[in-house]
Amino acid sequence: MTSTPRRTTAPDPANESAALEGREEPAGALGREARGGVQRCRELAELLPVAITEADRAGRFVFVNRYGLEALGFTSLAELHGKTMTDVIAPGDRERARTNWGRRLAGEALAAAEYQLIRRDGTVFPAEVRSAVIERDGAVVGMRSVAVDISDRVRLERQRRRLQTRMLEAQKLESLGVLAGGIAHDFNNLLTVLIGNAELALLELPDGSAGRSYVADIQQAAQRAAELTRQMLAYAGKAPITQREVAINRLIRKMNALLELSTEHRARIELHLAPGLPRLRADPHQLGQVLLNLVTNAVEAIEGVSGTVQIETKEAIFDADGAGAVDVVDGTLAAGRYVTLAVADDGRGMDEDTRRRIFEPFFSTKFTGRGLGLAAVLGIVRAHHGAV
Ligand SMILES: Nc1ncnc2c1ncn2[C@@H]1O[C@H](COP(=O)(O)OP(=O)(O)OP(=O)(O)O)[C@@H](O)[C@H]1O
Ligand SMILES: [Mg+2]
Repeated sequence: MTSTPRRTTAPDPANESAALEGREEPAGALGREARGGVQRCRELAELLPVAITEADRAGRFVFVNRYGLEALGFTSLAELHGKTMTDVIAPGDRERARTNWGRRLAGEALAAAEYQLIRRDGTVFPAEVRSAVIERDGAVVGMRSVAVDISDRVRLERQRRRLQTRMLEAQKLESLGVLAGGIAHDFNNLLTVLIGNAELALLELPDGSAGRSYVADIQQAAQRAAELTRQMLAYAGKAPITQREVAINRLIRKMNALLELSTEHRARIELHLAPGLPRLRADPHQLGQVLLNLVTNAVEAIEGVSGTVQIETKEAIFDADGAGAVDVVDGTLAAGRYVTLAVADDGRGMDEDTRRRIFEPFFSTKFTGRGLGLAAVLGIVRAHHGAV
């Protein structure tokens, strides 16, 4: 039989903790059994690798299992004295947590909620929290919660989403590549005929004749068009590669005069070339094209009267677990020894929308841009088993 008076009204907050602790248990054999059950629950709670908490109606902690204390950076319940559930929830999530708390106390059954929890040292981690009210004698005296650290799940989900967008973008580029490659291939053949015949015509036409300048214009335009198709072929990975041993620093120094010329005196080129780099198996012309395209963009991005373009080479060694890996936006790199080439400018930069589309062929934000520079860079780097 119970000696506790039946409570019909809302509990007195001062007694809530006592009520929650369940200090007033039935006497006799039934009481012993009940006490044994409580003891067993407590022991189980201490074993479980999830945070288990009990709080009174005001949210003050009455019980936190060992795992919960550790997860939050505490060693004993006493250290949480005076703290409430909302104190361990990140400020951005507090309002929502408070609302949910009130709804639960009012008897509403709510699904699990995700909150950012704060550790004692101020760091946060995401947790999935399930709660249920604690009732004593028909009155709600507090709330019991189980919180699971979901950092891994959140991280994996983020990774999965990133991979998916990357895959979609790769697929899009792939099909555009087939298209661009097909067109470029046919055009290249036609342009060869145009250029060849213009050359032959120039041989026939006398110096100073009116026809000569027209044909010369045709020849020049056809050459520019051929340059365009070369970039498209490079993007599609269909440019013929003649691989040789290339010392990239030497290649950059050799191209420096040409690069300086391309800056039109608006930018100073600074070279930061790491000594002792391994030689690459690569097509030097295509690597040169990569460098030229990047530097051209860098110079074009410089708005003021002058700026700086930095060209940097480095060695990068990735081991199997990705240590030392550089962040790539396209392609994946197996463990191994690589040379990285970076071109940086202090120009206007780009917004997120532009950044997402820069490798799309024919995407350009420039008035006269053809949008093929970076597409070609991508194609060439891919063809060389590298990554951007
Ligand atoms: N260094 C940079 N700074 C700011 N924006 C850049 C830079 N490099 C590229 N971009 C952006 O990426 C877009 C695509 O570059 P990409 O080189 O492919 O084409 P483009 O320079 O516009 O034309 P093309 O190179 O064919 O003449 C540019 O239009 C520009 O918006
Ligand atoms: Mg460009």
